[in-house]
Amino acid sequence: MRTQVGIIGAGPAGLLLGQLLHASGIDNVILERRSGDYVLGRIRAGLIEHGTVALLEQAGCADRLHTEGLVHEGIELSFGGDRHRIDLKAPTGKVVTVYGQTEITRDLMQARAAAGLKTVYEAEAVTPFDVMGRPRLSYVEHGERKELACDFIAGCDGFHGVSRQAIPAEVLRAYERVYPFGWLGVMVDRPPVSDELIYASSPRGFALCSMRSASRSRLYIQCRLDDAVEDWPDERFYAELALRLDARAAANLEPGPSIEKSIAPLRSFVAEPMRHGRLFLAGDAAHIVPPTGAKGLNLAASDVHYLWRGLVEHYQEGSGAGLDAYSQTALARVWKAERFSWWMTSTLHLFPESSGFDRRLQEAELDYLMSSRAAQTTLTENYVGLPY
Ligand code: APR
Ligand code: PHB
Repeated sequence: MRTQVGIIGAGPAGLLLGQLLHASGIDNVILERRSGDYVLGRIRAGLIEHGTVALLEQAGCADRLHTEGLVHEGIELSFGGDRHRIDLKAPTGKVVTVYGQTEITRDLMQARAAAGLKTVYEAEAVTPFDVMGRPRLSYVEHGERKELACDFIAGCDGFHGVSRQAIPAEVLRAYERVYPFGWLGVMVDRPPVSDELIYASSPRGFALCSMRSASRSRLYIQCRLDDAVEDWPDERFYAELALRLDARAAANLEPGPSIEKSIAPLRSFVAEPMRHGRLFLAGDAAHIVPPTGAKGLNLAASDVHYLWRGLVEHYQEGSGAGLDAYSQTALARVWKAERFSWWMTSTLHLFPESSGFDRRLQEAELDYLMSSRAAQTTLTENYVGLPY
C-alpha cells in the first residue's frame, strides 16, 4: 500500500492530523495498535482551548462540540477556606470549552469513517523504516505482514509508542520531571459542584472538581504514588474530597456511585527534536504534561497545526520551510505549556518533602495571584491557550 503521509496512532493527534490533511487533499493512512472501541474506552481530560476548537472547525468536526460543549468564561480557585474566581474572558477575550476528549475522538473517528479514509485498527508490530530516505511502515494485520510506503511518517503514537524510538539515541534528547504524587479520578453521574471548574489547594492536598455535562461530574484528588484504586472506595473518596474543598463547595458535593475510577501518575516530559528526517513526532509521542493545566490534548492539537501547515506547504507550494521549522516552532509552544503545567502543579499540590518555607511560598504565590491583575492575566493567557 502507498500513501503520502503514514500516521502511527488513532488518538486525538493522529485523527485530527488525518482529517486536516484530508481537508487539504493530502492522502493519509492511520495504523492503530488497538481497536476503535478500546481507543474510545480511554477516559481522558476535557478542557478545550479556543485554538483547538478552531482546528476542529477546520477539520469539519466541531458541530457536536458546539451543541454539547460547555463554554466557560472563568475558573475558581479554592484555598484558605475561600473560593476565588479567575475571569478568563476579561483579560484575554477568549474562553475555554468543556467537552470530553473521548467525544472529540469519537467525532474525529466518525468523520474519518464517513470520508472513507483508511484506518488499520489492531495493526501489530508497526515499525518505521528508512525515515532518512524513502520511509515505509511495516505492520501485521490479521497475522499477515504488510507494508505502507509513504512520503512522510507522523508519529502520533503517544508516550508508549514506537516512533520516538526511531530517533537514534545519539540524536534524541529527553527532559523529564516526575512528581511525587498521582491523581485519583472519579466519573459520576451527579451535577457539578459548581458551574465552573474548582481547583483546590488544601493542607491535605490538591483536588479538582470538573465536569462532562450538567449531569456528569469529573472529580480528582491528589493521592500517594503507592495508592491503589482499591484503597479508595467511593465513600472515602467523597469524604476526602469534601475536606479539601471550601465549605460551600463541600456542601454542594453530591456523592454517587462512581462509573469510572483510576489513578494516573504525574510527569513532565519533552523529547527533542520532534523531527528526524521524514519522521515527525506530534502529541504525547513527543511530550507529556501533568494534567493540572489541561494542556495534554491542546498541545497535541498545536503540534498537529504546525505539522499540517508544513505538509500543505510541501505538497502545494513545494516549500520545505514549514517542515524544516516544525520541531523548533512546536517545541517553543510545548515548553511554554510545560512551564505553565509545572507552575500550576507546583503551586497547588502538597509536596511530601516540602519544607515550611516551600509551603509559605505556595501561599504567597496564591496570595499574589489574587491581588494582582498582572498575575491573573499571566494565568489566564496560558490557561485559555497561547497563540499558535
Ligand atoms: N503502533 C500503533 N499505534 C500505537 C502504538 C504502536 N506501536 N503505540 C501506541 N499507539 C496508539 C495508541 O493505542 C493510541 O491510540 O497511538 C495512540 C496515541 O494516542 P494518545 O496516547 O491519546 O496520544 P495523542 O493522540 O498524542 O493525544 C494526547 O491523549 O493521552 C492523552 O493526556 C493525553 O490528552 C492527551 C492526548
Ligand atoms: C477534566 O475535566 O478531566 C480536567 C479539567 C481540567 C484539568 C484537568 C482535567 O486541568
